[in-house]
Amino acid sequence: MIVCVCHGVRCTAVRAAIGGGAHTVDAVGSSCGAGTDCGACRGMIEDMIDEALEEQSATRVDARGRTHLALSVSSA
Ligand code: FES
Repeated sequence: MIVCVCHGVRCTAVRAAIGGGAHTVDAVGSSCGAGTDCGACRGMIEDMIDEALEEQSATRVDARGRTHLALSVSSA
């Protein structure tokens, strides 16, 4: 899916930028160009950053390299 129409940047490129350490919209823009023209996609990029950081904080890797998921349970 195209995230940034102005630069034709796909979500995979934005995710790669975020995974490479771009944790602000401007940093993503510096990495792949998304969000650096009209700005219409900046909200979507910000959401993608938030989701990625939430996923990172929901997992941790222990000293043996095992991944642990932090699960939250809500009661309705
Ligand atoms: S759609 Fe991304 S800068 Fe215009």
